[in-house]
Amino acid sequence: MNVRKSKYSVNPLILNRWSPRAMSGELLAKEELMTLFEAARWAPSSYNNQPWRFIFATRDSKDWDVLFNLLVDFNKSWTKTAAALVVAISRKNFEFNNKPARTHSFDTGSAWENLAIQATSMNLVAHGMEGLDYEKAKKDLNIPDDYAVEMMFAVGKPGKKEDLSPELQAKEVISDRKPLNEIIFQGKFGNKINL
Ligand SMILES: Cc1cc2nc3c(=O)[nH]c(=O)nc-3n(C[C@H](O)[C@H](O)[C@H](O)COP(=O)(O)O)c2cc1C
Repeated sequence: MNVRKSKYSVNPLILNRWSPRAMSGELLAKEELMTLFEAARWAPSSYNNQPWRFIFATRDSKDWDVLFNLLVDFNKSWTKTAAALVVAISRKNFEFNNKPARTHSFDTGSAWENLAIQATSMNLVAHGMEGLDYEKAKKDLNIPDDYAVEMMFAVGKPGKKEDLSPELQAKEVISDRKPLNEIIFQGKFGNKINL
């Protein structure tokens, strides 16, 4: 792929992870899907509290429609060829004292990124989504009030860009990032450094 260029050399898995929408429609083997969750499981979290939980539906299961129907139309238009949909949720309080866990969403984000990098290493697609009905998700998936709905993602086997609609083909591009000196400050907010 090698389209992205980093100023400092980083692990190619990190640089080459991206979010395609083209998926072939093939299902994943149970082993493949569980390997993705295994990667998420080993993420770090505050107090090792592991607030992340994942609710999944494979496209061949009766659960599929319930998760699929949470999505906005745009996301429905390309996830119909995904192998599985997954809702990431997180427990808002620590398990050991039931006090608010300030970083529950942050921790769950790192679990998602572990999973996305693992997917990249297996030549699978993992594509995050915010475009869903969060309230409906809580209701339809029986999510208890002490859990927050974080996001949903689609996983699947890579497909052909040409099989996407023209609008989606135009979006099937590898994105760049802000330069390092826009996102890091030395000592105090706003103090930029020369790279
Ligand atoms: C939490 C989250 C929510 C996202 N929501 C959507 C979405 O609803 N629909 C979509 O097509 N892409 C969505 N994306 C994909 C982002 O647009 C994409 O990750 C971003 O543009 C960076 O591109 P890259 O992942 O290819 O590096 C989401 C990604 C994340 C992490």
